[in-house]
Amino acid sequence: MKRSILIHPDPRLKKVCPPVDDLDDGLRKLASDMLETMYDAPGIGLAAPQVGEMKRLIVLDCVKDEGEEPRPLIMFNPQIVARSEETSSYEEGCLSIPEQYAEITRPAEVEVSWMDQNGAPQTEAFDGLWATCVQHEIDHLNGKLFIDYLTPMKRQIITRRMQKLKREKARV
Ligand code: NI
Repeated sequence: MKRSILIHPDPRLKKVCPPVDDLDDGLRKLASDMLETMYDAPGIGLAAPQVGEMKRLIVLDCVKDEGEEPRPLIMFNPQIVARSEETSSYEEGCLSIPEQYAEITRPAEVEVSWMDQNGAPQTEAFDGLWATCVQHEIDHLNGKLFIDYLTPMKRQIITRRMQKLKREKARV
């Protein structure tokens, strides 16, 4: 089932989400709903607070080439356990901040630990777009958006655009 995605500014996008303790069918259903919502958008990552669920859960799939096998990842309680000193910059966007993009610099490689949909612990190193995406999504669980890396002035411009967009949406 597709969920609706919260648009910035929304207080739920600014909160720190508590960890998930016990995996149950409700949480697995939420993860699969989030993947459906992400693919439909389309996007390459989605965090639970973006659909109004305050839980440490993210989904991502950064496979972009057509013809390449999709690789949906479901991460409960993801944690960055190591980051490279080397950085890389990507033009980032966010499904909660539609059609706004900005170049953000982050560690080029990160090692992430998480619990998968079967409750098994996983650890993997990510680089390239995957590294950017997983860091962006984990930020969401801490109430942080990519625009928080920008200057207050740029952030304000984008926030005003989003307020306007939300007003227009509310009218229809
Ligand atoms: Ni985002």
